[in-house]
Amino acid sequence: MSQQIPVERIADLEFMRPPEIAEPDCCRSSELRRLNLNESLQPPSPNAIQAMTEALVSAESYPDHSCAALATLLASRTGISADRISFGNGSGELLSQAATLAMEAGDEAVFPAPTFPVCIKGAHIAGGKAIEVPVDPNGVNNVDAMLEAVTPKTRLFYLCTPNNPTGGAIGAPGLIKAIEKVPDNCLLLIDEAYHEFAKAEGSPEVLLLLKARNGPWAVTRSFSKAYCLAGMRVGYVITSSPKLCQAFWKLRSNFNVNRVALAGAVAAMKDEAYLQSTLKTLIHERSRLAEGLQNLGFEVFPSQANFLTVKTPSQASELASHLAKHGLLVQSMPWPGGFGSLRVTIGNAHDVDQLLWHLGESLNG
Ligand SMILES: Cc1ncc(COP(=O)(O)O)c(C=O)c1O
Repeated sequence: MSQQIPVERIADLEFMRPPEIAEPDCCRSSELRRLNLNESLQPPSPNAIQAMTEALVSAESYPDHSCAALATLLASRTGISADRISFGNGSGELLSQAATLAMEAGDEAVFPAPTFPVCIKGAHIAGGKAIEVPVDPNGVNNVDAMLEAVTPKTRLFYLCTPNNPTGGAIGAPGLIKAIEKVPDNCLLLIDEAYHEFAKAEGSPEVLLLLKARNGPWAVTRSFSKAYCLAGMRVGYVITSSPKLCQAFWKLRSNFNVNRVALAGAVAAMKDEAYLQSTLKTLIHERSRLAEGLQNLGFEVFPSQANFLTVKTPSQASELASHLAKHGLLVQSMPWPGGFGSLRVTIGNAHDVDQLLWHLGESLNG
C-alpha cells in the first residue's frame, strides 16, 4: 500500500500558529498596543539599531553560519566553550530540534501544563507522546509531580522557567531535584527564554546548578525578550557536551541566523547599561500593574517574566474583547477554568494606565 502524503503523524498535528499579525506595509501598527505576544514594548538598544543598520549594507552576502562573534561573546559570559553552543532562528526552533534529537517514535516527554507549546509539537513530530503535568497553584512547574510522570519510555524532560503562560520561576530546590533525578538516558531541557528577567530578581543560576548533572542537558535562551529583538529571530542553546551540541547543529538549516540579527544580538548583549535600564523599567511597571489588577479583583500569578497572568473576576474572553476595542491586545485563556485568565505583556507606563482604566471601566460598568 502506498504511503499517505502527508504522513498521518504530520497530518494529525494540531494547526498551531502565532496570533494574526497584520502588517500590510511591513510596519508595526502605531494604533494597536500588542500586549499579547510577550515581546518587548521598548525598542532595541540604540547600539543594536546602529549595528543592524551597518550590517544591512552587506545584505547581499550570506551570514557567518558559525555565528562566531556571538558564540565568542556567549562563551565569555557563560564560561561554557563555544563548541557547546548552537543557534536558532529564535529559540523556538531549538525547542523543536531538542525533541527531534532526543526522541524516537513511541518515546515519551514530560511537560508542565500549561506551557509554551513548541517543544510539545516537536515531540509529536518525532512520533512521541507528550505527558502533561499541571503546574502548581502559583503557576510554577511542579517538578515533584513531573518526576513522578517519568517512565522507562521517557527521553525528554522539559522545564520552562519562568513558565509561559504563568510567569513563575522554579526555585533552586526544584531545579536541583530535576538535575539529580531526571534519568541519565533522558534529555533535561530547560527553556529560559525569560532568563534575564528572572536573573535580575535573584532567581537561581541554572547553568551553575547544572554542573552537578551527569546526564545530558540543554538550556535555551532568546534575544526576543529582554534584548528587545523579537523581530530579528535569534536564540541559542547551551548544551552539556560538544557531541550534543553537534546534534543541534546537524538539525540547523543553513544560515538560519541572518547577518542583521547577528549584528543586533552581539551589540545588544554588549550594551549592559541598556539591558539594565530595560529590566528596571519593566519590573517597576509590572509591580504597578500587579497592584492595580489586584485592586480590581484579579488574582495575580507571581511573575519573574515580562508579562503577568491573572485569573479574571468575569469572563476573560469578554474582557480581552473590551480591551481590543480600545486598541489593547491581550491574550485570553480558558485555563485554569472558571472565568479563565488573561496574559498581559508589560508595556510602558501609559499602557499600564490604559489597561487598568479600561479593565476598571469594563468591570464597574
Ligand atoms: C517560554 C518560551 N520559550 C521560547 C519562546 C520562543 O521565543 P523565540 O523563538 O522568539 O526565541 C517563547 C516565546 O514567547 C517563550 O515564551
